[in-house]
Amino acid sequence: MSRIAYVNGRYVRHLDAAVHIEDRGYQFADGVYEVVTISGGRLIDEAGHLDRLWRSLGELRIVAPMAREPLKMVMREVIRRNGIVNGIIYLQITRGVAPRDHPFPKNATPSLVITARRLPLAKAAKTAAEGVAVITLPDIRWARRDIKSVSLLPNVLAKQEARERGAYEAFLVDEEGMVTEGSSTNAWIVTKDGKIVTRPTGNSILAGITRAALLLELKENGIAFEQRSFSVAELLDAREVFLTSSTSYVLPVVKVDDKVIGNGHPGLVSQKLRALYEKFMARETA
Ligand code: PDD
Repeated sequence: MSRIAYVNGRYVRHLDAAVHIEDRGYQFADGVYEVVTISGGRLIDEAGHLDRLWRSLGELRIVAPMAREPLKMVMREVIRRNGIVNGIIYLQITRGVAPRDHPFPKNATPSLVITARRLPLAKAAKTAAEGVAVITLPDIRWARRDIKSVSLLPNVLAKQEARERGAYEAFLVDEEGMVTEGSSTNAWIVTKDGKIVTRPTGNSILAGITRAALLLELKENGIAFEQRSFSVAELLDAREVFLTSSTSYVLPVVKVDDKVIGNGHPGLVSQKLRALYEKFMARETA
């Protein structure tokens, strides 16, 4: 089955899918995006992702190119046309095409692109069973990390450095020595006295949808947690470390920089929380 993309009102062959060279996403990274997991043919936490998409659009004063209900229909059609059971759907909205000039153009129509692809579940399960390594790097991003903007150059550089150093992810560290989040994930620790900690939302991190879903699961299961910043020292000293994202779910971290976390295997809490999140996903797809 050849891949199909949705581009500004048309379903086109992925190979032929294109936007104009003067799209502001291309020239200024003037746009936003979402990545939503598809599991069992269903979208996980669709409402949360669409809420965040509308918020990001609002913060950048980009007008939504279509209303929410028709957008949901197009998303389903992209999944159907690509025959995806397990994978991701990617949505990108930019301010549109206009002659290159910094101020917002007067008459541009926002561009909407939607693609979908399969993701191998087996590889993800193996990664989760073994745990991953992360490195720490300075957070050199802008001050509005709450907006899910396509401007991801610092994130790309951080992820590349992680990969070159044999790690899965880079946890980013602010000027006070506190961990903000991963280059494309949210960061969590379990302290030596068993407290589950993650940084509060605000302008310094992206409000992860997986993060929010997991916090809700913790609440509903009566598991205590703290939303506060934690330092690199606390991270290195943690009993357990894990990360969350739409594509990684809840993923145990077993090494930070050169420090082995716990006994070098996924910790009990991280494993339990991954199972909780998988249960949540199963309910979403039921
Ligand atoms: N990344 N922090 C950042 C900087 C991210 O880019 C992401 C998501 C997250 C986790 O958010 P969520 O749980 O809503 O996926 C946190 C996506 C997956 C990406 O860019 O591919």
